[in-house]
Amino acid sequence: MKTILIFVSTLDGKVTKWGASNVKLWSSHQDQDYYKKILNESQLIVMGSNTFNADTFKPSADHQFIIMTVHPDKYKSLEITGQIEFTNESPVELIARFISKGHKHILVVGGPHIATSFLKEQLIDEVWLTIEPKIFGTGGNFATEINLDINLHLIHCEKVNEQGTLITKYAVLKK
Ligand SMILES: NC(=O)c1ccc[n+]([C@@H]2O[C@H](COP(=O)([O-])OP(=O)(O)OC[C@H]3O[C@@H](n4cnc5c(N)ncnc54)[C@H](OP(=O)(O)O)[C@@H]3O)[C@@H](O)[C@H]2O)c1
Repeated sequence: MKTILIFVSTLDGKVTKWGASNVKLWSSHQDQDYYKKILNESQLIVMGSNTFNADTFKPSADHQFIIMTVHPDKYKSLEITGQIEFTNESPVELIARFISKGHKHILVVGGPHIATSFLKEQLIDEVWLTIEPKIFGTGGNFATEINLDINLHLIHCEKVNEQGTLITKYAVLKK
């Protein structure tokens, strides 16, 4: 099974502008269209509770949204069987569950805490990163403050607008 981590970032590695949660206020239209397309094509979409609360995810029979939280009971009323699920499983347990069900792909859409917990356990196979030609100085990075040592290999790079937004894909080199 392939686990893909997707983010949009600035040149200085920020995935939030000065810490504010609305990414669509600064990401390019090209990235927003691309992200929408990737979400539409993905069956299994994993995120943390903060990312779920910061955006709007439309439930659909075509996707299963899995929201990671220590308090799944808090979200009981939002659950839709087969479409929106809240879980306190660890990243390792989640991946094992979906491997055993025969899934081929999982898309991890963030945020930084969830991304880091998957990266730490070496569960990410590819990083799909849109790089916006912007510098914010402050804001969150997609990997939070722990020591990681992950090497990747560029497998795709496309300039998608005049300003130079780059859509990139990297494969994680497994040790
Ligand atoms: N630029 C981008 O591409 C992009 C993408 C996604 C998100 N974002 C931004 O990132 C921000 C949210 O990121 P975030 O890092 O604060 O939150 P997050 O990763 O979305 O969610 C973290 C929360 O998930 C829960 N959780 C459950 N299991 C966990 C585990 N194993 N490890 C860590 N957390 C776990 C915890 O909340 P409970 O109290 O519920 O347990 C934790 O506070 C938002 O501002 C969003 O807009 C940007």
